[in-house]
Amino acid sequence: MKLNQVIITGGAGYIGSHTVVELIHAGYEPVIIDNFSNSHPRVLDGLERILNRRPQLFEVDCCDETALNGVFESCLQQGNIAGVIHFAAFKAVGESTAEPLQYFRNNIGSTAALLAVMHRHGVGSFVFSSSCTVYGQPEQIPVDEHAPFLPAESPYGYTKQACERLISDAHFAHSELNVTLLRYFNPIGAHPTGLIGELPLGHPNNLIPFLTQATAGLRDPLTVFGNDYPTADGTCVRDYIHVVDLAKAHVAALNWLQDQHHACEALNLGTGNGSTVLQVIQAFETANNIQVPHAIGPRRPGDVTAIYADAKKAKKLIGWECELSLEEALKDAWNWQKKLGETS
Ligand code: WQD
Repeated sequence: MKLNQVIITGGAGYIGSHTVVELIHAGYEPVIIDNFSNSHPRVLDGLERILNRRPQLFEVDCCDETALNGVFESCLQQGNIAGVIHFAAFKAVGESTAEPLQYFRNNIGSTAALLAVMHRHGVGSFVFSSSCTVYGQPEQIPVDEHAPFLPAESPYGYTKQACERLISDAHFAHSELNVTLLRYFNPIGAHPTGLIGELPLGHPNNLIPFLTQATAGLRDPLTVFGNDYPTADGTCVRDYIHVVDLAKAHVAALNWLQDQHHACEALNLGTGNGSTVLQVIQAFETANNIQVPHAIGPRRPGDVTAIYADAKKAKKLIGWECELSLEEALKDAWNWQKKLGETS
């Protein structure tokens, strides 16, 4: 039987690994490309336990066009390539300020290399992992896809904007290229089995991994970055989306792309609801019946006050919307943290 393959760069990462699961559930054959620069090979063990088989993996750097070409040739011997989902990228805002050249080279270089290899082999469906960070602090919230890009606050944010531009230009030039630019809000949680989840290497920068590690006693109490913002309780507002819902959006986007003839669409992927930091802490405590050690601290430079998605376009165009609640995401996040504690 010919395989209906999907190349998934960064497939061993947080969102990538959850997407591998959903692709297999939907009948696709994921082919992971990952160089483990910000992930761990043991993610493959978790995937194997969930799926009862080990997904295919090529340990390749996505900036290496010759190696990427080899992966495509190998896949084409086994079946067709239904599309490419491009997750692989560096994503730490602070680090990008210290190492801008690495961010530009890796994030933009890999996207250009992938598009070139896709074009060479006539592969037309491309799902790109973008971010709500492209909007900065939007003038209106909820923010929809028409909101303008604001000057990026960090080299990381700029690479997402630049990649969207690069992909749109490639779309104009290459008639076979169909694209979705998926702008994620704040992905949280883990697979309900607790077998895959977020594996932040070193000090976590994002709220939920820090919160779960602090609650597990592995870190100092969580610092709430500022309580003097013009919001309901003074803390920043974000749109937290369960990573399994986010993974399913990639399958919906890929399915939709199969029927398109020269489309390029940006889609917001969020719940449409904003929560403050203190509301998240409260919801975590209620969902898991545990106290979160925390204290109010100063603002974090670069934080926007409030952002959440208008996600109506994704529902209309690709038939996707979130199904899981904030509480479910926070339960799954805590379950994952506890399982990590058992194995480390
Ligand atoms: C969430 C909220 C913090 C840590 C994310 C990605 C970023 C980009 C945009 C991704 C904020 C507060 C956090 C802590 C806190 N795109 N916080 N104490 O800033 O929304 O950015 O989306 O592709 O890369 O990280 O997410 O999880 O860092 O912060 O109070 O220890 O939690 O101030 O309000 P953010 P985050």
